[in-house]
Amino acid sequence: MGRLAVGLIGAGKHGRRYTHHIRADVPELALAALCRRDAVRGREQARALGCRFHDDWAALIADPAVEAVIAVVPPTLHPALAAAVAAARKPLLIEKPLAPTAAAAREMVRVLGAAGVPVLMAHTLRWNTVVRAIRERLPSLGPLRALYLNQRFEPSSLAWLDDPRTAGGGIILHTGVHSFDLVRWLTGHEVARVWCRVACADTSRTEDNFVAVLELEGSDALVAVNGSRSTAGRSGLIDVAAAGGQLVGDHALGFAYGVLGLERTPLPLTEPVPTVREALRAFARLVLNGDPPPVTLEDGARAVLIAEACRRAAASHSAVSLEPAT
Ligand SMILES: NC(=O)c1ccc[n+]([C@@H]2O[C@H](COP(=O)([O-])OP(=O)(O)OC[C@H]3O[C@@H](n4cnc5c(N)ncnc54)[C@H](OP(=O)(O)O)[C@@H]3O)[C@@H](O)[C@H]2O)c1
Repeated sequence: MGRLAVGLIGAGKHGRRYTHHIRADVPELALAALCRRDAVRGREQARALGCRFHDDWAALIADPAVEAVIAVVPPTLHPALAAAVAAARKPLLIEKPLAPTAAAAREMVRVLGAAGVPVLMAHTLRWNTVVRAIRERLPSLGPLRALYLNQRFEPSSLAWLDDPRTAGGGIILHTGVHSFDLVRWLTGHEVARVWCRVACADTSRTEDNFVAVLELEGSDALVAVNGSRSTAGRSGLIDVAAAGGQLVGDHALGFAYGVLGLERTPLPLTEPVPTVREALRAFARLVLNGDPPPVTLEDGARAVLIAEACRRAAASHSAVSLEPAT
């Protein structure tokens, strides 16, 4: 494998995880440049990392020293950034949520698809060891009856998350997409229809709590997803009921059990892995080896479509149907 020179747009809370893992764990990637709005802190960061700095993301994408782009910025920037990446014909690793709206996500799929550039969608929970253990065990339990997912956190310190002009939406878009993607990945079914309720506890302009009921295409399984960013605890529950038994795990707390009758048996779990590191390794394999992306742009767009349907369902107090996946 050769070495790929990457440019990172966004060096905030999550972007710094990317700079750390590129340097510490993924020798196939070299950080050629980084971009953020704060030029003083950005130059300092770039100096410490030994890379170039751009205070304009378009300049980073155009930089000939940058062979591939990694985007870890608020999603309202994604559509313009994707168009520039497509025009420059550079591979892209992009954080969730793919886009602020379903229409913008569809357009990104079209533009990046037409350019034929390799793209990896960073739905990072796909690399979580608890999620993987449950997905592996699920088929042995026969028909699925019910799936319940939650993701809960403390209130966020990021002010932009409650500004719809920057965030594009609330917790349904920002955290919900993780769970919507897992519903599709764990069950193998598309979402056909949704119902949803929301609440604002610590936010004022966007919701920070939601619960949604999801109807699947081609499955009678009952699916519910809950997200909260207004609790002092953290969790990522996956609760599965199937004809042949149950699975209960938590991808934030790091446990997973099989349940038969009243007996609870731990599922074998591999060591927890940093999911950003795994996404970066998958990106290196995609670009340098031509491996297929484990999470596609279309997966990202589908999660945004489900999020948008939930937002509309909550606003209209009624069920919202999704267009069938093609
Ligand atoms: N997969 C996951 O589990 C996960 C976890 C956390 C976050 N994320 C995603 O990662 C993204 C970033 O989140 P975060 O928590 O890192 O937020 P953050 O700490 O606020 O960082 C955002 C970064 O984007 C930069 N930025 C904003 N607008 C820009 C622009 N116009 N041009 C260049 N840079 C710009 C900011 O630069 P300045 O600071 O200089 O303004 C900052 O470095 C979000 O989309 C979020 O959904 C994913």
